[in-house]
Amino acid sequence: MYPLQRNRRLRNSKSLRALVQEHSLTPNDFIVPLFVVEGKNIKEEIPSMPGYYRLSLDLLKEKIKTLWSLEIKAVLLFVKVPDILKDNKGTEALNPKGLMQCAIQNIKDTAPEMIVMTDVALDPYSSFGHDGVVKEGEILNDQTVAILAEIAISHAQAGADIVAPSDMMDGRILKIRQRLEENNYSNMAIMSYSAKYASSLYGPFRDALDSSPGFGDKKTYQMDFRNRKEALTEAQRDIEEGADIVMVKPGLAYLDIIRDLKESVDAPIAAYQVSGEYSMLKAAAEKGWLDYDQVMIEQLISFKRAGAELIATYFAEEAVKLI
Ligand code: PBG
Repeated sequence: MYPLQRNRRLRNSKSLRALVQEHSLTPNDFIVPLFVVEGKNIKEEIPSMPGYYRLSLDLLKEKIKTLWSLEIKAVLLFVKVPDILKDNKGTEALNPKGLMQCAIQNIKDTAPEMIVMTDVALDPYSSFGHDGVVKEGEILNDQTVAILAEIAISHAQAGADIVAPSDMMDGRILKIRQRLEENNYSNMAIMSYSAKYASSLYGPFRDALDSSPGFGDKKTYQMDFRNRKEALTEAQRDIEEGADIVMVKPGLAYLDIIRDLKESVDAPIAAYQVSGEYSMLKAAAEKGWLDYDQVMIEQLISFKRAGAELIATYFAEEAVKLI
């Protein structure tokens, strides 16, 4: 009670504030999403993500060296696939010499201890831009899951450390885990996009990979953002099915979900601060309306405060240089 208690006492100097601070950021918190394209010496800026690039394999190597020198320990790979290689079943995703498989090997040759996480999904490979096989306008669940499990095996063969299925089909974690066990990849970890909402914040990412759905939307598989309880069931089921890390996506608007999971599941929780969140801050900063660095750090800390152990974010490299 005032004046016995004065909350301002411990805020009185920078040193005091540092001593009592509950959360901080280190390079170990971050996962860097990377967009890979075919070709040589290619560094294409993504128009809706200023300052973020698609890289060809040679420049990916350079990027990995930089990230490793900053003590960043994990990257999450996405590939941009030329239209001629796309089909309904995402056949190219299984090509042992495909862009993803080459990127994994390339990184492991460059920085063997860098944790390589891979997006396991059909949409960048799908002629329909959907995360599943399409039949008469419907996204087929079980047929898709069977393909996803083979993609995971293919990434394991190429040397990935963690597969990250981002599709939201039912039962995909179980199938992937079973196939990994059958193929003696029992050490392969699965980071599941467990609570992935049907969000309008993915727009810039779909520009980056040219992967927008050709018809309809993703609401029959991604979650309704009006709902909270099903996030918990999704995460619990994924852990039962063999997931090692569960993810909540998008980030800032879903801190309540991160906290819910923190309180009820034991697995590490990852937050994905998505492309639209990156673009919003970039745009506001370009206009001179917000202090880019300060707002970035404030947002990233909020993920830690909510309960995330890991943060996938397009700000990772810049943030690590600031901390
Ligand atoms: C696709 C996938 C998406 C993102 C990650 N994996 C887009 C989508 O579901 O349409 C979005 C990431 C971002 O916006 O940064 N499987």
